[in-house]
Amino acid sequence: MAHTSVELDGTDYSCEWPAETTLLQAMLDAGIPAPHSCTMGQCGACQCTLEGGDSHMLNNDVLSDYDVEDDQRLACQTMRDSEGPYEVSYLF
Ligand code: FES
Repeated sequence: MAHTSVELDGTDYSCEWPAETTLLQAMLDAGIPAPHSCTMGQCGACQCTLEGGDSHMLNNDVLSDYDVEDDQRLACQTMRDSEGPYEVSYLF
């Protein structure tokens, strides 16, 4: 588990992010109303800023290399590679 804090629409949430779970699924499992649509890395609805540790995306048909270097992630495709704690925000 990795502690993850989430800022969404002016509200602060937190959740635990299991290593085998995508960021989006971890947030949804915690009852956080994280935006999403396709859940396949194709639409960009789940785009967020992720800081606090390494991660990788299983699929990414949306974000440019520049976006990724700027800590942008598709939550539905993001797996964590460290223990965090992570910070998620939806301020672009
Ligand atoms: S929900 Fe469509 S890219 Fe993540």
